[in-house]
Amino acid sequence: MKTQKELRALIDQMTMEEKIGQLVQYNANVFTDTSQEATGPAAELGAKPEFLPVVGSSLNFQGADEMIRIQDEHLAGDRNKIPMIFMMDVIHGFRTIFPIPLGMGASFDEKLVEECTRMASKEAAAGGVQVSFTPMVDYARDARWGRVMETCGEEPLINGIMGAAQIRAFQGDDLSSPDSLGTCVKHFAAYGGAEAGRDYNTVEISERLLREYYLPAYKACLDAGATMIMPSFNSLNGVPSVANKWLMKKVLRDEWGFDGVVISDYYAIGELVLHGITDNLKDAAAMAFDCGCHMEMMSVGYQSHLKELIEEGKFTVEQLDDAVMRVLKLKNDLGLFDDPYHGASSAKEAAVCLSPEHRALAKKAAEKCAVLLKNNGVLPLDKETKRIALIGPFADEKAIKGFWACCGEDKDCVTVAEGIRALCPDAEVTVVKGCSALWDDKDTSGFAEAVKAAEAADTVILCVGEPQNYSGEGNSRADIGLPGLQTALVKEVAAANANNAMLLFTGRPLVLTDVEKSVGAILNMWFPGTEGGSAAASLLFGEANPSGKITMSFPKAVGQCPIYYNHPSTGRAKQTPEEVHQIYASNYIGCGNLPLYSFGHGLSYSNFVYEGFEIDSDTLTADGKITATVTVTNDSDRAGEEVVQLYMHDLFASAVRPIQQLIAFEKAAFAPHETKTITFEVREDMLRFYNAECEFVSEPGDFDLMVGYADHFAFTKRFKLV
Ligand code: BGC
Repeated sequence: MKTQKELRALIDQMTMEEKIGQLVQYNANVFTDTSQEATGPAAELGAKPEFLPVVGSSLNFQGADEMIRIQDEHLAGDRNKIPMIFMMDVIHGFRTIFPIPLGMGASFDEKLVEECTRMASKEAAAGGVQVSFTPMVDYARDARWGRVMETCGEEPLINGIMGAAQIRAFQGDDLSSPDSLGTCVKHFAAYGGAEAGRDYNTVEISERLLREYYLPAYKACLDAGATMIMPSFNSLNGVPSVANKWLMKKVLRDEWGFDGVVISDYYAIGELVLHGITDNLKDAAAMAFDCGCHMEMMSVGYQSHLKELIEEGKFTVEQLDDAVMRVLKLKNDLGLFDDPYHGASSAKEAAVCLSPEHRALAKKAAEKCAVLLKNNGVLPLDKETKRIALIGPFADEKAIKGFWACCGEDKDCVTVAEGIRALCPDAEVTVVKGCSALWDDKDTSGFAEAVKAAEAADTVILCVGEPQNYSGEGNSRADIGLPGLQTALVKEVAAANANNAMLLFTGRPLVLTDVEKSVGAILNMWFPGTEGGSAAASLLFGEANPSGKITMSFPKAVGQCPIYYNHPSTGRAKQTPEEVHQIYASNYIGCGNLPLYSFGHGLSYSNFVYEGFEIDSDTLTADGKITATVTVTNDSDRAGEEVVQLYMHDLFASAVRPIQQLIAFEKAAFAPHETKTITFEVREDMLRFYNAECEFVSEPGDFDLMVGYADHFAFTKRFKLV
């Protein structure tokens, strides 16, 4: 480890080029692909060859060996011997892949998130990663946006809790420990607010909405000690984030006092020209540097222009040194000056990745993240079931790890067919694809075989969903139904055998209105990762009991998007039943306002009964608390877990309040027939919001507390804040 003084001395003797090099991040292929220097990645990017030896960091390399090779070559050529940092997107696993973050959110289990992240951290560190571009905590309400798979959805509280859990797990107590990684919160800010759910699209959001819903999760992650933050691609209220002075200077620097490293998103500084807020890269670099963006990922504005900007007096050397110091401090904290590989080696990588313990954890996670959306009693299946037909494109599909699966490989995933055959070796399992999951599939020639298999089976499992590359970055959809012919397949097969259940593979909430009435059950696996098929089997046959609850609403129709449970009251709330249209009220003709499945929904094989919701006082003072209790009984012979959710509604306030808002939850495990009293504390700080003047306050008055979820509240109690 170096002292602050040593770091200072190091900076003091560096040339301007060497300093700027610390602020530059290039893809690994820029360093490795030297075969065609005139046309290769370095030339395409515009990276100056004479600059390469002093570049301070890299991303997107393949494993420990490649990292070590690049690091060794770099150290041999850098007279300052400053190691590079190697970064990567370790979003839901490194080689062993656990469910996508939208699924991890549905677990409502921050301990599970920590456990899985720790596992990912071990694998990634062994594989040469030193900083992960996680957590992604973009608040999202629009399922058309492909990157909802990376978020925890429509509740800021959950996004913040899960983001902070990831930071604790990645960073541990000591960043220099060989199992720890630095973290980078992203995408600051409001990337998930992309208009019409189209990725990279513009974002226009009032300051109140931004502060109340979009910003809190980023802040929670910085409070948890995240080492880095990444401004988002989008323009926010007219100005792209990396050049947005209000966001970067007023909020991030002045209000939040962030003292870590800011890195641009991939080519985002170059994109300032494409956004059209300047016509040249030099200005773009100046805008970003002025906004406190210390590192530039994959564009060449700093490399090409920062020296000139300093010489022209636009920036001072002290400003450059401050940015360099932040980067060197991170390298020092990671222990790179002592061990430039941070403990990585291919032997270690081979030993930890996909180890039996990691696979077991991935299976547990996939079980805990799955959400049972519907069940008419067909699930769980009897393990003695003889003839099982697995029908649909995901019946024996290995591509179930999901987008952003880092170094995970499809070939390592357990398919549903493999999982069921392993669990029920005596069953006769028939697999029929029926059709593909592609949106433009027109070939129904497989339907007849699917129907025949369904007729001959005791039980049918319909394995349907979106291909894994229909969500994630750049993969927005305007129609979020089951793609292609799958709805027709589900209907035909379900008509042939009523004893059926549907297994869903998806990176976003889908519109299932057309299929949900045809099937007996829907078990949503999201993209479950490496052990998806074994987890699906244990859930289907009741070895595991579903306990996930969705954190993003499943709309009835895509036209309801953006749809979210915590929406503000309107002056025209409707009085008629959901399906009846009421003129001059805020509702749709022929659809209703409610989603098909609301935030907080998720069934179990156990039957949880709620009784006796009590509060110990109907008055809350600013420094006091109310204790709320509810008794929950597992009225079944099956052990299970239940997420008990507490919501509030501020009845009257100077700014319009949401009709419901999650303020606390507890995930509790119940033995068969066990009763537990769940206790929540309600304090004044939980009732704060941005008032009409956009100040963060609580306002005295009446509040309702509700237990249950969304439109299924079991109980309501009213209290007064005085
Ligand atoms: C994504 C970021 C990611 C970066 C590096 C970008 O395209 O928006 O989330 O961290 O690439 O892979």
